[in-house]
Amino acid sequence: MMDLQAIRREFPTLEKVVWLACAGVGPLTCRALAAWEKAQRSLYQEFDPEAWREVGRIQDRVRGLGATLLGVDPEEVALIRSTTEGLNAVATAIPWRRGDNVVITDQEYPANAIPWYHQARLHGLQVRVVRSRDGRLPVEAFAAAVDGRTRVVAISHVQFGSGFRADLAGLAELAHAHGALLVVDAIQSVGAVRVLPRELGVDALACGGYKWLCGPEGTGLLYVRRKLAEGLHPRAVGFPNISQTEQEDLWEALCGGRGWVRDFAGYAQGAIRFEGVGLNPALLSAFAAGLEYFLELGLGWIEERVLELSGQLITELTRLGLEVVTPGDPRERAGIVLVRGPWDLRDPSTHKSVEAHFLSRGIRIHVRAGGIRISTHFFNSEDDLDLFVEALAEWQKGKGP
Ligand SMILES: Cc1ncc(COP(=O)(O)O)c(C=O)c1O
Repeated sequence: MMDLQAIRREFPTLEKVVWLACAGVGPLTCRALAAWEKAQRSLYQEFDPEAWREVGRIQDRVRGLGATLLGVDPEEVALIRSTTEGLNAVATAIPWRRGDNVVITDQEYPANAIPWYHQARLHGLQVRVVRSRDGRLPVEAFAAAVDGRTRVVAISHVQFGSGFRADLAGLAELAHAHGALLVVDAIQSVGAVRVLPRELGVDALACGGYKWLCGPEGTGLLYVRRKLAEGLHPRAVGFPNISQTEQEDLWEALCGGRGWVRDFAGYAQGAIRFEGVGLNPALLSAFAAGLEYFLELGLGWIEERVLELSGQLITELTRLGLEVVTPGDPRERAGIVLVRGPWDLRDPSTHKSVEAHFLSRGIRIHVRAGGIRISTHFFNSEDDLDLFVEALAEWQKGKGP
């Protein structure tokens, strides 16, 4: 039995705020903030040589933790700044042929739509949009869209609005049967539920660190299956993503003043070739501390807790007669619950006033996809859910500001 009070002490903000908002931003743990401050100070204020020696190791450490989290090899993990960056790294590396098509869905967050439309414009591709059915995206809905010219099926593992969790194994089978790749935006699933891309047959997967992983913004993980990565040319190349041995030799040459302006022979191994920029090591220290905490708590326990809370909330909102868009089946959801009612949230002033109503009661939620989006994470308590339901009832009665 986990000690919820001890867990909540890792997130001091929970003393003041009912945080039902991880689908937007997750709160930082104390240990992540402490690691960040320490690294930032020793690197950039004190210029501590030992801290600088750690810089190369921190990247390996985060890749290793990311690999453990995703059940893959460290060389299959690249460090990225955002989901958008990771998806673009993959989209821009594919050798497109005019007339190819990419299959996305009508529920995607722009991060997993715009990069594909951009490639379509540049290379004469077709973007096909699969229509959801009552907020769900079953594998059958993709059958008519995927054909021999499909190069990529791109989907969010969990949708930012409806909270629907896709059947990635089923989609991988469908995509591969047509010679296409399955590329996944996993920012709304990694950290909330267990995500094992290799077992699921996913070819590439990107997730930012600042939502369900409670890490700093500007961090993230990109998984690319090793064989696939090694056949792709990254779009952006520089010192961070040429091969490790060349990097070392080039650095020696540069320091020692012997012919350092030269061509390069090869990319970094596996997915690391997609690391076009060197990330701030202090930020990576914070990300690492957070990932270690998640692994310490146990991904199985986290998933169980997240699904238990989202399930309880769905039951209660359904009992109140509200329209819960998120599926009840735990295999088809994670930590997002979207509820709609007889409200019209299309007007931006209304949705701001709804968020303000909840915030005035110390509750952080979001208005998204025409509904109220509640995110339940492992640190939430049953009391948090009760407080949300009470505040919702108040708002419905028109007692809110
Ligand atoms: C499904 C989904 N993908 C991507 C993003 C944006 O990710 P990033 O800021 O890491 O590019 C969001 C943000 O809400 C999201 O919900």
